[in-house]
Amino acid sequence: MKTSQQLQAMCGELLDWYVQQDRTLPWRIRPEDRAAGRAVDPYKVWLSEIMCQQTTTNAAAAYWYKFLDKWPGVQDLAAAPRDDIMGAWAGLGYYARARNLHKCAQIICADYNGVFPKTEAELLKLPGIGPYSAAAIAAICYKEASNVVDGNVERVISRIFRVQEKLPKAKPVLRNLAATLAGAFSHSGSHVGSYLGHPGDYAQGLMDLGAHICKPKNPKCNLCPWQGHCLAFATGDPENYPKRKPKPERPSRYGAVFYVEQDGYIWLRRRPDKGLLGGMMELPGTDWSVGKPNVETWLSQAPLKGDWQPIEGEIVHVFTHFTLYLTVFTAQVRSSGFAISADVNRLDDYALPSLMRKAIAKAARL
Ligand code: ADE
Ligand code: SF4
Repeated sequence: MKTSQQLQAMCGELLDWYVQQDRTLPWRIRPEDRAAGRAVDPYKVWLSEIMCQQTTTNAAAAYWYKFLDKWPGVQDLAAAPRDDIMGAWAGLGYYARARNLHKCAQIICADYNGVFPKTEAELLKLPGIGPYSAAAIAAICYKEASNVVDGNVERVISRIFRVQEKLPKAKPVLRNLAATLAGAFSHSGSHVGSYLGHPGDYAQGLMDLGAHICKPKNPKCNLCPWQGHCLAFATGDPENYPKRKPKPERPSRYGAVFYVEQDGYIWLRRRPDKGLLGGMMELPGTDWSVGKPNVETWLSQAPLKGDWQPIEGEIVHVFTHFTLYLTVFTAQVRSSGFAISADVNRLDDYALPSLMRKAIAKAARL
């Protein structure tokens, strides 16, 4: 175990490193920005943290600019049609985040007068804001000395302390160790009151360390401010941490979609709100089953009769809990119409997930 003096020293060293790095992100207010009078905007920080939940900061940045351009404030977002938000989100994945984003904006406007609540506990009550985002927003926007823990932070902590417990069981252990450090930061009187007294800097320094230095493979220990405190560095085996219980192999599922194009329009339908890709658009298709069914079973689920032909080569799409093998069928059909016909040249206007964009691209190339 480390003494509180050691832990406090670590906090100071992390902050010094964070300041020297001058790494920034579009939504980040750095210490010198703060000194120059730039105020933090909780709406912008919230948006960034939701986008970063399962997406790299690089990919999130482009979407972050796009969203702020369309919806500069939380009222604008709350008032937007949900489909516009889903459409703008398309490509980022994990679409529950977009639905919750909209819900959360509406609650902020209806119940909170358009102002985000200022504590981790209150933030946690809002849709789409989990423990990580609540802690991050509270630290960055409201100087709460919260314990911000994501996968990157877990990795850093597991290496510093050479935690032998395996993930996912190790989660509470790692969280407690991270809390000890975050607590040491809030008690390290030396930094309080100076530009380094900000918990948001500590949290973001820790995130940066995990993302850019203490990487899963080939961590850059020679550039790490915590090298002198790191047990895994001392034993020369950082890559062995965090220890993990082997994951069960990702199962496969099989499905088909039916591509109908008529006079420059393609047929789409909307998925139910609940469940995977909820509320997004899709080509009409079959269930996604665990075994691969025969073609007749699939064709019995086609939206209309026709000489359906499968396109060579399935689309392989990896979801969190399974890999989907999707077969795209096409047919020459004429019919009076379908629930939604989408202009094939304006598909960006529709909330189509990447999977369906791939399927359409495959069929349209024929
Ligand atoms: N990942 C998620 N939020 C972040 C932030 N504020 N800084 C760096 N990486 C992040
Ligand atoms: Fe990670 Fe290496 Fe730093 Fe340890 S010394 S925290 S393993 S980067």
